[in-house]
Amino acid sequence: MDRGRGLVYGRRRGRALSPLQRARRETLLPRVAFTLPIEGRLDPRSLFTASPRRIALEIGFGAGEHLAALAEREREAGFIGCEVFEGGIVRLLGQIERKNLTNIRIFADDARLLLAALEPSSLDRAFLLFPDPWPKRRHHKRRFLSRETLDLLAHTMSEGAELRIATDDPLYLRAILVRLLAHPAFFWLASGPSDWRSRPSDWPPTRYEEKARAALRTPFFLRFQRRQPRG
Ligand SMILES: C[S@@+](CC[C@H](N)C(=O)[O-])C[C@H]1O[C@@H](n2cnc3c(N)ncnc32)[C@H](O)[C@@H]1O
Repeated sequence: MDRGRGLVYGRRRGRALSPLQRARRETLLPRVAFTLPIEGRLDPRSLFTASPRRIALEIGFGAGEHLAALAEREREAGFIGCEVFEGGIVRLLGQIERKNLTNIRIFADDARLLLAALEPSSLDRAFLLFPDPWPKRRHHKRRFLSRETLDLLAHTMSEGAELRIATDDPLYLRAILVRLLAHPAFFWLASGPSDWRSRPSDWPPTRYEEKARAALRTPFFLRFQRRQPRG
Protein backbone atom coordinates (compact mmCIF):
# COMPACT_ATOMS: atom_id res chain seq x y z
CA MET A 1 0.00 0.00 0.00
CA ASP A 2 1.03 3.56 -0.67
CA ARG A 3 2.69 4.97 2.41
CA GLY A 4 1.49 8.51 1.61
CA ARG A 5 -1.64 9.89 3.28
CA GLY A 6 -4.40 7.36 3.65
CA LEU A 7 -8.07 7.91 2.96
CA VAL A 8 -9.60 8.90 6.28
CA TYR A 9 -13.16 10.18 6.07
CA GLY A 10 -13.95 10.96 9.73
CA ARG A 11 -13.08 14.17 11.61
CA ARG A 12 -9.48 14.81 12.58
CA ARG A 13 -10.25 17.90 14.68
CA GLY A 14 -13.19 18.75 16.93
CA ARG A 15 -13.65 21.25 19.73
CA ALA A 16 -10.69 23.39 20.80
CA LEU A 17 -8.42 21.64 23.29
CA SER A 18 -8.22 22.81 26.90
CA PRO A 19 -4.88 24.29 28.06
CA LEU A 20 -4.10 21.03 29.91
CA GLN A 21 -4.88 18.96 26.81
CA ARG A 22 -2.71 21.27 24.70
CA ALA A 23 0.12 20.87 27.20
CA ARG A 24 -0.20 17.07 27.03
CA ARG A 25 -0.18 17.22 23.23
CA GLU A 26 3.02 19.29 23.28
CA THR A 27 4.93 17.35 25.97
CA LEU A 28 3.55 13.81 26.35
CA LEU A 29 2.49 13.03 22.78
CA PRO A 30 6.01 13.33 21.31
CA ARG A 31 7.20 10.80 23.93
CA VAL A 32 4.61 8.15 23.07
CA ALA A 33 3.83 8.82 19.40
CA PHE A 34 5.77 7.25 16.55
CA THR A 35 6.01 7.54 12.79
CA LEU A 36 6.74 4.89 10.20
CA PRO A 37 10.15 4.06 8.82
CA ILE A 38 10.73 5.48 5.35
CA GLU A 39 11.96 2.09 4.22
CA GLY A 40 11.64 -1.43 5.52
CA ARG A 41 9.28 -2.95 8.05
CA LEU A 42 8.57 -1.85 11.60
CA ASP A 43 9.09 -4.34 14.42
CA PRO A 44 6.50 -3.09 16.94
CA ARG A 45 8.49 -4.45 19.90
CA SER A 46 11.23 -1.95 19.09
CA LEU A 47 8.85 0.88 20.04
CA PHE A 48 8.97 -0.11 23.71
CA THR A 49 11.91 0.12 26.08
CA ALA A 50 11.06 -3.22 27.73
CA SER A 51 10.72 -5.03 24.34
CA PRO A 52 7.47 -6.82 25.32
CA ARG A 53 6.82 -10.32 24.05
CA ARG A 54 3.15 -9.65 23.33
CA ILE A 55 1.88 -6.76 21.21
CA ALA A 56 -1.73 -5.64 20.81
CA LEU A 57 -3.09 -3.08 18.35
CA GLU A 58 -6.30 -1.07 18.71
CA ILE A 59 -7.56 0.61 15.57
CA GLY A 60 -9.66 3.77 16.06
CA PHE A 61 -9.40 3.80 19.87
CA GLY A 62 -11.70 6.82 20.23
CA ALA A 63 -11.08 8.23 23.72
CA GLY A 64 -8.91 5.23 24.57
CA GLU A 65 -10.74 3.72 27.55
CA HIS A 66 -10.48 0.13 26.24
CA LEU A 67 -6.78 0.50 25.42
CA ALA A 68 -5.92 2.18 28.73
CA ALA A 69 -7.86 -0.43 30.76
CA LEU A 70 -6.00 -3.32 29.07
CA ALA A 71 -2.62 -1.55 29.34
CA GLU A 72 -3.21 -1.00 33.05
CA ARG A 73 -4.18 -4.65 33.54
CA GLU A 74 -1.28 -6.06 31.49
CA ARG A 75 1.69 -3.85 32.18
CA GLU A 76 4.15 -6.35 30.69
CA ALA A 77 2.45 -6.29 27.26
CA GLY A 78 2.91 -3.59 24.62
CA PHE A 79 -0.14 -1.72 23.29
CA ILE A 80 -0.31 0.30 20.10
CA GLY A 81 -3.24 2.64 19.60
CA CYS A 82 -4.16 4.11 16.25
CA GLU A 83 -6.46 7.12 16.05
CA VAL A 84 -6.81 10.09 13.74
CA PHE A 85 -9.13 12.25 15.88
CA GLU A 86 -7.14 14.71 17.95
CA GLY A 87 -9.81 15.03 20.67
CA GLY A 88 -9.59 11.26 21.26
CA ILE A 89 -5.80 11.19 21.25
CA VAL A 90 -5.56 13.84 23.98
CA ARG A 91 -8.10 11.96 26.09
CA LEU A 92 -5.93 8.87 25.91
CA LEU A 93 -2.92 11.01 26.87
CA GLY A 94 -4.83 12.02 30.01
CA GLN A 95 -5.33 8.35 30.95
CA ILE A 96 -1.69 7.52 30.21
CA GLU A 97 -0.67 10.29 32.59
CA ARG A 98 -3.18 9.53 35.36
CA LYS A 99 -2.57 5.76 35.31
CA ASN A 100 1.16 6.12 34.72
CA LEU A 101 1.07 3.81 31.69
CA THR A 102 4.44 3.23 30.07
CA ASN A 103 3.30 0.48 27.68
CA ILE A 104 1.21 2.46 25.16
CA ARG A 105 2.46 3.91 21.88
CA ILE A 106 0.31 6.03 19.58
CA PHE A 107 0.17 6.12 15.80
CA ALA A 108 -1.82 9.30 15.02
CA ASP A 109 -2.68 8.49 11.43
CA ASP A 110 -4.56 6.07 9.23
CA ALA A 111 -4.29 2.54 10.66
CA ARG A 112 -3.95 1.12 7.14
CA LEU A 113 -0.60 2.86 6.75
CA LEU A 114 0.61 1.22 9.95
CA LEU A 115 -0.68 -2.22 8.99
CA ALA A 116 1.11 -1.96 5.65
CA ALA A 117 4.39 -1.14 7.42
CA LEU A 118 4.39 -3.67 10.27
CA GLU A 119 6.50 -6.80 10.21
CA PRO A 120 4.54 -9.93 9.26
CA SER A 121 3.11 -11.91 12.21
CA SER A 122 4.09 -9.21 14.69
CA LEU A 123 0.70 -8.70 16.39
CA ASP A 124 -0.77 -11.00 19.04
CA ARG A 125 -4.12 -9.21 19.26
CA ALA A 126 -6.04 -6.63 17.25
CA PHE A 127 -9.13 -4.64 18.22
CA LEU A 128 -11.54 -2.77 15.97
CA LEU A 129 -14.30 -1.49 18.22
CA PHE A 130 -17.30 0.25 16.74
CA PRO A 131 -15.68 1.34 13.49
CA ASP A 132 -17.70 4.03 11.73
CA PRO A 133 -20.51 2.07 10.01
CA TRP A 134 -21.05 4.49 7.10
CA PRO A 135 -24.65 3.28 6.74
CA LYS A 136 -25.39 4.87 3.34
CA ARG A 137 -24.71 2.44 0.54
CA ARG A 138 -22.76 5.00 -1.48
CA HIS A 139 -20.40 5.41 1.52
CA HIS A 140 -19.76 1.69 2.06
CA LYS A 141 -16.40 2.00 0.33
CA ARG A 142 -15.30 4.21 3.25
CA ARG A 143 -15.69 1.36 5.75
CA PHE A 144 -12.48 0.28 7.38
CA LEU A 145 -13.03 -3.45 6.92
CA SER A 146 -12.37 -4.09 3.26
CA ARG A 147 -10.85 -7.23 1.79
CA GLU A 148 -7.60 -5.25 1.50
CA THR A 149 -7.46 -4.29 5.20
CA LEU A 150 -8.39 -7.82 6.22
CA ASP A 151 -5.50 -9.10 4.12
CA LEU A 152 -3.22 -6.60 5.88
CA LEU A 153 -4.48 -7.76 9.27
CA ALA A 154 -3.98 -11.39 8.28
CA HIS A 155 -0.42 -10.58 7.24
CA THR A 156 0.50 -8.76 10.46
CA MET A 157 -1.26 -11.08 12.95
CA SER A 158 0.56 -14.12 14.25
CA GLU A 159 -0.86 -17.64 14.23
CA GLY A 160 -3.51 -17.93 16.95
CA ALA A 161 -3.78 -14.13 17.35
CA GLU A 162 -7.25 -12.85 18.21
CA LEU A 163 -9.14 -10.17 16.31
CA ARG A 164 -11.97 -8.53 18.25
CA ILE A 165 -14.58 -6.45 16.47
CA ALA A 166 -17.64 -4.68 17.88
CA THR A 167 -20.47 -2.92 16.11
CA ASP A 168 -23.97 -1.69 16.93
CA ASP A 169 -25.10 -1.56 13.33
CA PRO A 170 -26.92 -4.77 12.30
CA LEU A 171 -26.18 -4.23 8.62
CA TYR A 172 -22.51 -3.65 9.25
CA LEU A 173 -22.52 -6.73 11.52
CA ARG A 174 -23.77 -8.76 8.59
CA ALA A 175 -21.18 -7.26 6.23
CA ILE A 176 -18.38 -7.94 8.74
CA LEU A 177 -19.46 -11.56 9.20
CA VAL A 178 -19.75 -12.13 5.45
CA ARG A 179 -16.22 -10.76 4.93
CA LEU A 180 -14.60 -12.53 7.84
CA LEU A 181 -16.26 -15.90 7.25
CA ALA A 182 -15.15 -15.79 3.62
CA HIS A 183 -11.56 -14.95 4.53
CA PRO A 184 -9.25 -17.97 4.59
CA ALA A 185 -7.03 -16.58 7.39
CA PHE A 186 -9.70 -16.20 10.09
CA PHE A 187 -12.26 -18.29 11.88
CA TRP A 188 -15.05 -17.16 14.19
CA LEU A 189 -14.64 -18.03 17.87
CA ALA A 190 -18.37 -18.03 18.64
CA SER A 191 -19.09 -20.48 21.47
CA GLY A 192 -22.88 -20.50 21.05
CA PRO A 193 -25.81 -18.75 19.40
CA SER A 194 -25.90 -15.85 21.88
CA ASP A 195 -22.12 -15.53 22.25
CA TRP A 196 -21.87 -12.39 20.14
CA ARG A 197 -24.57 -10.58 22.13
CA SER A 198 -22.58 -10.26 25.32
CA ARG A 199 -19.20 -8.66 25.88
CA PRO A 200 -16.68 -11.09 27.42
CA SER A 201 -15.63 -10.11 30.96
CA ASP A 202 -12.02 -9.43 29.89
CA TRP A 203 -13.19 -6.95 27.21
CA PRO A 204 -13.42 -3.42 28.69
CA PRO A 205 -16.34 -1.25 27.52
CA THR A 206 -15.89 1.87 25.40
CA ARG A 207 -17.57 5.24 25.26
CA TYR A 208 -19.19 4.38 21.97
CA GLU A 209 -20.73 1.22 23.45
CA GLU A 210 -22.24 3.32 26.24
CA LYS A 211 -23.67 5.73 23.67
CA ALA A 212 -25.13 2.83 21.69
CA ARG A 213 -26.81 1.33 24.78
CA ALA A 214 -28.15 4.76 25.83
CA ALA A 215 -29.71 5.06 22.37
CA LEU A 216 -31.19 1.54 22.80
CA ARG A 217 -29.02 0.09 20.03
CA THR A 218 -27.71 -3.45 20.56
CA PRO A 219 -23.93 -3.86 20.53
CA PHE A 220 -22.47 -7.04 19.02
CA PHE A 221 -19.10 -8.52 20.00
CA LEU A 222 -17.18 -10.73 17.58
CA ARG A 223 -13.99 -12.69 18.19
CA PHE A 224 -11.96 -14.25 15.38
CA GLN A 225 -8.74 -16.19 15.40
CA ARG A 226 -5.88 -16.02 12.92
CA ARG A 227 -5.33 -19.44 11.39
CA GLN A 228 -1.90 -20.87 10.74
CA PRO A 229 -0.32 -18.74 7.97
CA ARG A 230 -0.02 -20.58 4.66
CA GLY A 231 3.31 -21.88 3.41
C1 LIG B 1 -17.27 5.32 16.03
S1 LIG B 1 -15.69 5.74 16.67
C2 LIG B 1 -15.41 4.48 17.90
C3 LIG B 1 -14.34 4.85 18.88
C4 LIG B 1 -14.00 3.80 19.94
N1 LIG B 1 -13.45 2.59 19.34
C5 LIG B 1 -15.17 3.47 20.82
O1 LIG B 1 -15.65 2.32 20.75
O2 LIG B 1 -15.61 4.35 21.60
C6 LIG B 1 -14.56 5.25 15.36
C7 LIG B 1 -13.17 5.84 15.52
O3 LIG B 1 -12.31 5.32 14.51
C8 LIG B 1 -11.42 6.36 14.12
N2 LIG B 1 -10.94 6.02 12.75
C9 LIG B 1 -11.69 5.98 11.62
N3 LIG B 1 -10.93 5.61 10.57
C10 LIG B 1 -9.68 5.39 11.06
C11 LIG B 1 -8.46 4.99 10.46
N4 LIG B 1 -8.40 4.72 9.14
N5 LIG B 1 -7.36 4.87 11.25
C12 LIG B 1 -7.44 5.13 12.58
N6 LIG B 1 -8.57 5.53 13.21
C13 LIG B 1 -9.68 5.65 12.45
C14 LIG B 1 -12.28 7.61 14.16
O4 LIG B 1 -11.51 8.79 14.26
C15 LIG B 1 -13.14 7.35 15.40
O5 LIG B 1 -12.56 7.89 16.56
